[in-house]
Amino acid sequence: MAAFNSSSALFVFIFFFFLVHRYLVSAATAAKYDVVALGAVPGGKAGISEALLRAWESACGSPGPSTIYVPSGRFLVEKPVEFAGPCQGGPIGIRIDGSLVAPSNYTAIGSSYSWLSFQRVSGVSISGGILDGQGSGLWKCKNSSAATNCPSGAMSLLFSNSKNIIISRLTSLNSQMFHIVMDGCQDVRVHGVKVFADGMSPNTDGIHVQNSTGVTITSSRVATGDDCVSITQGSSDVWVEDVMCGPGHGISIGSLGKRLEEEGVENVTVTSVTLTETTNGVRIKAWGRPSSGFARNIRFQNVVMNNVENPIIIDQNYCPDNINCPGQDSGVKISNVTYQNIRGTSATRVGMKFDCSTTNPCTGIRLEDVELTYKDKPAEALCVNAGGTAIGTTQPANCLGV
Ligand SMILES: *[C@@H]1O[C@H](CO)[C@@H](O)[C@H](O)[C@H]1NC(C)=O
Ligand SMILES: *[C@@H]1O[C@H](CO)[C@@H](O)[C@H](O)[C@H]1NC(C)=O
Ligand SMILES: *[C@@H]1O[C@H](CO)[C@@H](O)[C@H](O)[C@H]1NC(C)=O
Ligand SMILES: *[C@@H]1O[C@H](CO)[C@@H](O)[C@H](O)[C@H]1NC(C)=O
Ligand SMILES: *[C@@H]1O[C@H](CO)[C@@H](O)[C@H](O)[C@H]1NC(C)=O
Repeated sequence: MAAFNSSSALFVFIFFFFLVHRYLVSAATAAKYDVVALGAVPGGKAGISEALLRAWESACGSPGPSTIYVPSGRFLVEKPVEFAGPCQGGPIGIRIDGSLVAPSNYTAIGSSYSWLSFQRVSGVSISGGILDGQGSGLWKCKNSSAATNCPSGAMSLLFSNSKNIIISRLTSLNSQMFHIVMDGCQDVRVHGVKVFADGMSPNTDGIHVQNSTGVTITSSRVATGDDCVSITQGSSDVWVEDVMCGPGHGISIGSLGKRLEEEGVENVTVTSVTLTETTNGVRIKAWGRPSSGFARNIRFQNVVMNNVENPIIIDQNYCPDNINCPGQDSGVKISNVTYQNIRGTSATRVGMKFDCSTTNPCTGIRLEDVELTYKDKPAEALCVNAGGTAIGTTQPANCLGV
């Protein structure tokens, strides 16, 4: 009896020692997967997609926290790569010191939806590094007379149906299409990101948020040929702060209402942003066709405009090429939109334009301390089917109905 007790006590002691030790080890040192140790060669022509996927499989299958490391150097990622979850443990940190580079021949990834994508993951962070989509060949193709034969292009980085995501200090260059996209995500932080593409490059949106909630985008810089930040259907609780945009198309809510059945956008704050030489400043854009979509509880504040073509704009008559919407009213309901402390210069006479739907007029627009000039004179305002109030300085003069 006594012998049994002491040996089982020893067994229990060893067992708990093992458990505690294991716990302490996993808490202190996350498993680390270096892609070079897994076969990636910097500067190599072969491409590292297999090494990246091996690192992901190990990290995703690991019960505790883990890190994937891409050291400095230029690494070709020769084909689209999908990092799929759900994973066993986490969190998973991806630290990049070098560059991940897409093939220069755009056909390699151009017909895929995305180049690097994360699906159904939770607790993934990406920090540092450069993603180079090498999109210029595709942009040229799209800009040529043979444009109909061009693939539509891949987004560089996509997170879809994922949560607890952090993207920090990443630089995204020359994506074929949208640069950084969140679709169907919850709780995402984008911080200190830089996005650069040619000012004439087509559809190269910087940061695109769709069907996602709890997204903050802070201290970032976006210069592209399309929207700086775009927020579309099904998104709520989005915070954009300290972002510099330009060139490009500015910060956009929309396009909304392309489809008949569509979720709306609500609870968005855009604060302390600067737009320089962009085609739009802060924009809400909706297709001129029937839809269940909406935009409400939107706040734009502390915005500086530098020579922006349409500094403040709501456009409910969006209909590129006038296909499938002429004469139709937008079904999108826009309400409770606040513009607070918006200052700077307009590149066109009309600095503030609210062009709303006849059947769904804009309501609850609030202007507070807006001051926009065009060629050193007050800019002008245009209101169609737009209601709301103004307090403080309002220049252009308030044209809102009640
Ligand atoms: C790009 O790749 C495609 C398909 O492999 C090939 O047909 C085409 O010639 C390549 N283009 C260039 C410029 O190398
Ligand atoms: C929106 O995202 C959720 C996941 O957050 C997903 O289940 C749903 O299918 C998505 N809806 C659309 C219209 O994409
Ligand atoms: C597209 O073509 C126009 C006219 O030739 C040119 O000005 C522009 O820079 C081109 N854009 C791109 C992205 O190549
Ligand atoms: C948006 O904010 C309003 C007011 O604070 C709140 O009632 C509503 O639930 C929020 N919507 C979402 C989808 O979080
Ligand atoms: C209007 O939107 C603001 C956010 O911009 C929000 O705080 C407020 O609750 C909304 N008002 C109503 C009546 O929903």
